[in-house]
Amino acid sequence: MNSRKNFLEYYQRNLVFKDEALREASQATGVSVISNEIGEFISFYLNNKDIYEVVEIGSGYGYSTKFLHILLPEARIHSVERYFPRYERAREYLVSERVEFFNMSGEDYLAKRKEKIDLLFLDGSKPHYVHFLEAALPLMDRGAILLADNIFGRGLSYEEEVDKRHRTMQRRIREFLDLAFEEFHASLLPIDDGLFIGEKL
Ligand SMILES: C[S@@+](CC[C@H](N)C(=O)[O-])C[C@H]1O[C@@H](n2cnc3c(N)ncnc32)[C@H](O)[C@@H]1O
Repeated sequence: MNSRKNFLEYYQRNLVFKDEALREASQATGVSVISNEIGEFISFYLNNKDIYEVVEIGSGYGYSTKFLHILLPEARIHSVERYFPRYERAREYLVSERVEFFNMSGEDYLAKRKEKIDLLFLDGSKPHYVHFLEAALPLMDRGAILLADNIFGRGLSYEEEVDKRHRTMQRRIREFLDLAFEEFHASLLPIDDGLFIGEKL
């Protein structure tokens, strides 16, 4: 245990799932997956919560979907991915009657959804988080949980010297956070690239 990484890994006692081969394959093609630090925290926090209806926006290759599927054995999961090759790969990776993948944008999926959501996990395009949240709010009752990954955007969400495109991203991320902090009892955790966690007021 001679490094921070080894030390942390040794004490990641809640982490329900790890697939380093998929992590590497995914990251090699530019698709990041939830870190073990985030996974450890989510495993700890969501343990024993009454969660039956989960919506994930941004399936990637299905790593986090499988993670949630193992962590929440009673939950039905809808996972949404707009990029067809990733959707297909995720669908092959995780076959379960409790999980359904949708090849569409998160915005389109949420506009059509009628059922309540107990857990909304946002891991798609950050400038869209505010739109996902606006669409999902009517489906979330008091106590429903919102998790949103990569809030810091590797620094692009708050650094002063950024180009025009990233200024738009900064504005949208702040719109998301302002709305999310109004609607949820919440915290922004500086784990990995920043995790928003909230319970609906
Ligand atoms: C960071 S990756 C997801 C990683 C995955 N959640 C995991 O941890 O294994 C983000 C994914 O979101 C998808 N995405 C981005 N914007 C989206 C949107 N508006 N609707 C649906 N999917 C979106 C991207 O194509 C990409 O595959």
